[in-house]
Amino acid sequence: MSTTDVARRPHRLPVDRLNEQARETTPPKSIDLSTPIDRSLHFVCPTLTPLYYTSVYEQLTPEIQRRYNQITALAFNEFTRFLEQDIGGTVLPALAETPSVPPELREYLHHFHEEEKAHAQMWTALNAHCEREWYTITESRFVRLGKLPRIALQAVLRRPRTFRWVLWILLCMEEIAMETARRTVHSAVEIEPRFLTAYQSHQQDEVRHVQVDWYLIEHLTDPLPPRRRRRDARALRYVFRHYLLAPLRVGRRVLEQLGAEYPEVRRIIPQVLNEYRALPRSVAHQSALFSRHTHPVMFALFDRYPEFQIIEDVLLTYRDDPARWAVQ
Ligand SMILES: [Fe+2]
Ligand SMILES: [Fe+2]
Repeated sequence: MSTTDVARRPHRLPVDRLNEQARETTPPKSIDLSTPIDRSLHFVCPTLTPLYYTSVYEQLTPEIQRRYNQITALAFNEFTRFLEQDIGGTVLPALAETPSVPPELREYLHHFHEEEKAHAQMWTALNAHCEREWYTITESRFVRLGKLPRIALQAVLRRPRTFRWVLWILLCMEEIAMETARRTVHSAVEIEPRFLTAYQSHQQDEVRHVQVDWYLIEHLTDPLPPRRRRRDARALRYVFRHYLLAPLRVGRRVLEQLGAEYPEVRRIIPQVLNEYRALPRSVAHQSALFSRHTHPVMFALFDRYPEFQIIEDVLLTYRDDPARWAVQ
């Protein structure tokens, strides 16, 4: 096992210390958007993008690979904004008003909400700077939810004590945000400096958010009987299987945009979508995006709660993870 295979050992600060840090932290410095974005550069590390894990990727010209990378980074920013504004904007205030949540955690939830609002503004401004025309009519060109699913989701988000799996999704995506910053800083390709600054400033707050998610999940899960933990685990497994591991809906819209700009891409879209459908069974894809290395806290929580270990049905990296057997 090489040193890069060794997972980070998760640790966290007391909640009071997290509150102090949040009070002392200056808001993320605004990104300099006074000059045009550099379209000759990538926007995100290519290993974070799904097309990279298909047989098609190497057949594309460097120009099309780079444009795919740029469009995908804009879609990632939209998805992060959706989590922060549409999901966090409902679930965080709902938790902050829950009397059973300890007061120091409730205090942090106010910081959490404010920090996510600032992040959402940052992604919106960055995307609009890249593609003014797209984002004058909408904030979300690629990440869209129909009216009824949106209403249903809001009903779920207003009841985080009942639908606890939402917090696991927040944790999962916040650990991805940290991995995005880490990996993009060390990317083999040069990254557009405004995107690099955005990922790094985002990471400063996400370090604390991951710890708060961890406290909240324990607070809500520890008192549960095994039967209810199993129900949460089944919901989480469903979301992984149908949404997180196979980026079909957003992936299709990104490819259609790429096909609109490069007609030669259109004929390969069906093949790429077929390969996306196979991604939930791809060890290479999961190892890069959902492992003990990228998600040390989420995996530590799977270790802690045996009921959640049914996640191995969809997370091959948990099923075949030697570190898991070491802790049991
Ligand atoms: Fe954020
Ligand atoms: Fe966050």
